[in-house]
Amino acid sequence: MEATAKAHTNIALIKYWGKRDEELFLPMNNSLSITLDQFYTITSVQFCECLTADKFYLNETLATDDETKKISELLDLIRKLSGVKMFAVVDSLNKVPTAAGFASSASGFAALAAAATKAIGMDIDEQTLSTIARRGSGSACRSIYGGYVEWQKGELLDGTDSYAEQVLHEKEWDLTILSVLLEPKEKKILSREGMRRSVETSPFYQGWLETVDEDLEVAKQAINERNFEMLGEVLERNAMKMHATTLGANPPFMYWQSATFDVMEKVQELRESGFRAYFTIDAGPNVKVLCQPKDEEYVRGALMALTPVQDVYTCHPGPGISYLPHTKRKTCC
Ligand code: PMV
Repeated sequence: MEATAKAHTNIALIKYWGKRDEELFLPMNNSLSITLDQFYTITSVQFCECLTADKFYLNETLATDDETKKISELLDLIRKLSGVKMFAVVDSLNKVPTAAGFASSASGFAALAAAATKAIGMDIDEQTLSTIARRGSGSACRSIYGGYVEWQKGELLDGTDSYAEQVLHEKEWDLTILSVLLEPKEKKILSREGMRRSVETSPFYQGWLETVDEDLEVAKQAINERNFEMLGEVLERNAMKMHATTLGANPPFMYWQSATFDVMEKVQELRESGFRAYFTIDAGPNVKVLCQPKDEEYVRGALMALTPVQDVYTCHPGPGISYLPHTKRKTCC
């Protein structure tokens, strides 16, 4: 009872920001992302009678109790759905520079959901797999698919209609996503807490909800028409609006640091000098810059020249879930 799966991380162009149900990870709004080719997680899962608890290895090291608890919660759901009661050994390798603000939780929980459901013998389609990955981390439901992906918020209370779908295959439109690594200065407010505080206290949250569907429509039209400028303008606008909700929260907070502003200003300067480049920012200080492949070397060079920039990773649209031959590196009995 074992399987190995690989999942790539994703970056939201239209953000998921706010939950309507915290326990089931049900979002307030639809979101849209690109799955990235460079960053991924490979996870092997083996269920075995001999185990008395789940065991979780992250990058070759036995994980902490807190890390293992999050994994066990998703495994509990999979055990409940399948009717199998065995515990598992989970062995995960993360090829995600987590310090660069690329949440490894998206690729991590997508790979875990895929490997664990296969290992336990569940025969499910990708839509159902997406709803299971969602229960580990919301954005993980989008990492089941490659390319351009929309997460449908759904309407049902049980969340069975809240899953992701591919909008456009990764090979259908190439873009460059530059992930700019800055030196982190302060402790992060986790997305879960940031969302909750924005939903509950920010007067700007209503404005976010009222306009996000329109942003999504514009972004999908831009993808359909392969209109890079239209996509860039709406993704930057959408990121700014998400961050505006944090400024209006009580107590207010912001994810940006001085280095974040340096990158934002550089992107605006690049645009003034004729390069189409646009930024987006998640729940942290680091910035992702989107541009066209023909401009990627120049734009990367301009970003690398900024003093607080430590590194810039070049990514393109990447694939969805894949299953690999099982590699048994950690044994249970
Ligand atoms: O699923 P989480 O908890 O990693 O939350 C993701 C939140 C954002 O990255 C800010 C937006 C998004 O849609 O990915």
